[in-house]
Amino acid sequence: MRVFLLGSTALLAAFLFATGLQAAAPINEADIDAALNSKTRTLQEAEIEAALNAAIAKYKTLQEGANADYIPALAKVDPNIFGIALVTPDGQVFTAGDVKSEVSIQSISKVFTAALVMEESGPEAIQNNMGVDATGQVFNSIVAVEQYKGAEMNPLVNAGAIASTSMVSGKSREEIWNKILNYYGEFAGRKLSVNEEVFKSEAETNQRNQAIGKLMYAYGRIKDNPDQATDIYTEQCSVNVNARDLAIMAATLANGGKNPVTGKQVMRNENVDELLAVMATAGLYDDSGKWLYATGLPAKSGVGGGIIAVSPGRFGIAVISPPLDAAGNSVRAQKAIADVSNALGGNPYAVTPAK
Ligand code: DON
Repeated sequence: MRVFLLGSTALLAAFLFATGLQAAAPINEADIDAALNSKTRTLQEAEIEAALNAAIAKYKTLQEGANADYIPALAKVDPNIFGIALVTPDGQVFTAGDVKSEVSIQSISKVFTAALVMEESGPEAIQNNMGVDATGQVFNSIVAVEQYKGAEMNPLVNAGAIASTSMVSGKSREEIWNKILNYYGEFAGRKLSVNEEVFKSEAETNQRNQAIGKLMYAYGRIKDNPDQATDIYTEQCSVNVNARDLAIMAATLANGGKNPVTGKQVMRNENVDELLAVMATAGLYDDSGKWLYATGLPAKSGVGGGIIAVSPGRFGIAVISPPLDAAGNSVRAQKAIADVSNALGGNPYAVTPAK
């Protein structure tokens, strides 16, 4: 199919037109007719598969970065895990590399807890409590909390995320926790579970997050029980996921809040754009600007090695590879997602002028 694609200029132009990619040559009626014939879907599949396989091949041997070790259990995870998955809004799942191995979701969880708070209390609840602005600081910055007394930040840094968790309603810890875990499962399209070793390891070493939780409580951003909020936050970070799970979660956001695999509307359509905006400005912490400059994609990283990215209306993509750069973002995942998205025209800011 690849050979056929390369050998057929008209079909290539038609494919590019049909998929919204930029065509170099003018498109005529014959091209449009060709785009509408049954080969279009097959060509698109081949293109996606080729892009995923190329990214795995290109970065498999890249030896940059290191596993997170401030959570001792993360240092023991196999650094060679490298898997990629892409899911389209019509529910097609494409994978390459190791998509079976699971890692802890870590900070990617923050997106889905924020989504839950938005569902329960509206997007203004997040904005009014901890804000929706990038801090420009590391993810566990205390300086960022101090600067505006726990406001003017966002739900994707630790302080804002612990506050988000505290905003999930429930009569008991168990009820709140089950609600969060089940909600993540609705995004992933399957029941998820906790990596108990990672949870225990982080719970024993998360004194800094406990301090952040208490500080957010002192500034009134957490209403009560900051220790419980930090503990549930720690547990949510320990949920195990593989690259396929993460890509379906991302694709649910790419598809306006409706899980494209299960068909369930998981979050309100009108909340998705606001959540994506925060991912765009703060998803990769102090490197969010560099990332957006390179890809244009709302994204979120986790110190377990996962990154999700969303091309709205086009695809959700995820990569897992544990070695991280200095900002706490997976090295291979950033490169692989950027390559695949650029190959498939995923950057929502990339447009050609009207004729
Ligand atoms: O709270 C923490 O430090 C971790 N559970 C999560 C941090 C994280 O994933 C930052 N992401 N790149």
